[in-house]
Order: sequence, then C-alpha cells, then structure tokens
Amino acid sequence: MAAPSRLPSNEEQSADAAGGGSATPSQGIPVVDLGVLVNGAADERSRAIRDLGRACEDWGFFMVTNHGVPEALREAIMDTSKELFRLPLEEKKEYMRAKPMDPIRIGTGFYSVVDAVPCRRDYLKMFSHPEFHCPEKPAKLREIAMEYGTCTRALLLELTKAISESLGLAGGRLSEALNLDSCFQILVGNHYPACSRPDEEALGLSAHSDHGLLTLLFQNGVDGLQVNHNGEWLLAKPLPGSFFVIAGDQLEIVTNGRYKGVLHRAVVGGEQSRMSFVSLIGPAMDTVVEPLPEMAPDGRGLEFRGIRYRDYMEMQQSKSINEKTA
Ligand code: SIN
Ligand code: FE2
Repeated sequence: MAAPSRLPSNEEQSADAAGGGSATPSQGIPVVDLGVLVNGAADERSRAIRDLGRACEDWGFFMVTNHGVPEALREAIMDTSKELFRLPLEEKKEYMRAKPMDPIRIGTGFYSVVDAVPCRRDYLKMFSHPEFHCPEKPAKLREIAMEYGTCTRALLLELTKAISESLGLAGGRLSEALNLDSCFQILVGNHYPACSRPDEEALGLSAHSDHGLLTLLFQNGVDGLQVNHNGEWLLAKPLPGSFFVIAGDQLEIVTNGRYKGVLHRAVVGGEQSRMSFVSLIGPAMDTVVEPLPEMAPDGRGLEFRGIRYRDYMEMQQSKSINEKTA
C-alpha cells in the first residue's frame, strides 16, 4: 500500500479490546508501530526502523500496532471462518479431498502425541494472490476474504519495505529481489476445539517455521501461540487490537540467515475453543530465492543455495500432510 488509508490513534487501538486477547504484552516481545514507520518524523522513523531490524534479528517475531486494518474487518473474517467450520461436512468435502498445493483446502490435523484424544486443529487454506480462490460458502466469505487479503497484503508489503531499510538497503530492494508485485499470498483460518485433556503439552499445531516471507496473525481472544525465543517456548500475549508478525523461511534465506524464520507452535485452549487467522505473503511462486549479494558482499559465507519458492513450499507442505511434522 502507499500507506494505510487511516491510521487509528493509540487511544482508539487501546480502547478497542475486541478480539485482542490479553491486555498485557508478554515477555518483552517487540512492538512495531506502523504509524511511525509510515508517517513518523525522520528521527523517530529511523529509530523505529532500527528497532524493527533488532526485532527481526533477535526474535523473528513482533507485534504491529497502528496497522490500519479495521477492527470490523478482522471481526468479519474471524466470524465468517467460524461459520465455515460449522458448515455440514457435505458442504466442505470437495475441499477436504484437496492436495497440499491446491488453492483451497479444508482439513483436520491431529497432533501425533494426542491422536487418541479429541485435540486437533481444523483449518481452511485459500490462495488469495496473485489469483484469488475462495469456497462458495458461506456466501459472504468471498467479499470479506478479498478485502481482508488486499488490506493485509498492503500492510505486509509496507513492513517488507521497512525491513529492507533495516538491512541498510533501499526500501524496494526485497520487493524487487522477490518479485513481490506478484507475491504469493495465502489466508488460513485455524480452529482449535476446546480440549479438556489434562495434558498441558497437548498441541494444536506442532513446532514449525513458516515457508513464506512474513506471516500476520491474530486470534479470537484465547491465547495459545507459543514462540521459540533463545531456545525457550514463550506464550505470546497480544496487545489489544495488534497483530503478531512471524518471520518466515524466505526472509531467512534472502538475508543470508541474518533474520531468522522463527519456530512457533500452537497449544490448545483448554476449556475454550481457540481460533486464529493468518495472512502470509511469500515471493512470486517461480522466483528462485537466494541470499542477496549485499548480505554476503564477497560471495563467501553464503548459507543457502537458491531454491524456487514453489518447490520449497511444495516440499514443506507435503511433509506436513496431516500436520504431524512440519
Ligand atoms: C500457524 O502457525 O499457522 C498458526 C498458529 C496459531 O494458531 O496461533
Ligand atoms: Fe505458522
């Protein structure tokens, strides 16, 4: 996006607790204010860019506030994906037969350790850019998902620009290297039914890093996302109205390992059912992703060989059939 059309004030965002979950951010997770990145005065902005770089380097994970995605749109996408999960099986089965790289997929993943108990994750995955795909029901999903996809893609591209600058590069450098004008985008709705099993380790989604460049995630007010920081699993508690941003594998590759695709997982929400909604962007599918020459100036110390994003994703997705491994 050129810039989010209207950035809500800090007061508006703090007053807006809907869907935000816990009031206290946890464990020192970095917070990035998009308003400052887009509209901040020069010195304020360069501080924010530096902090963003640190967040990507030390955590691969942060929260974004003042992001400009309307709360009503977040509520609409969450509610509609909930409706989809409640549809009779008959309405969904066409997409339940889909293969990992099909553009619409609905499924259930069991975590191997808890296969015998009803702890699981239901998911809806739909490709939303460059081509937009969407199940026919619920009928309103198409319009809402299209708007949500456009709005969150713009936000993620804006963050990518700032991340590029945080590496000391021009704002457009990552976009140019990864062909982000035709970036791949997928929307994923997750539903973790309540699970009363006393086992605290019961997982909804096992540890993995995301295959893309950046992932944006928010949840229905029930915590459960854990992020691995310095070898420890921390429960991520969001600031009200914020999004979590997760650095993916393509960011790690293109920065030659300077920024890390962070490991994360989801625990089940105990007595409460948990929902999360994900918008992920990656390079254009046929881009061969390799470290930027600027990240290894003399060509030595290259940590990664180039790999076509489509092949990378296919490999990762096939490994994670049934979500038993990722
Ligand atoms: C994900 O990693 O795709 C989902 C994690 C979550 O539900 O919090
Ligand atoms: Fe993930």
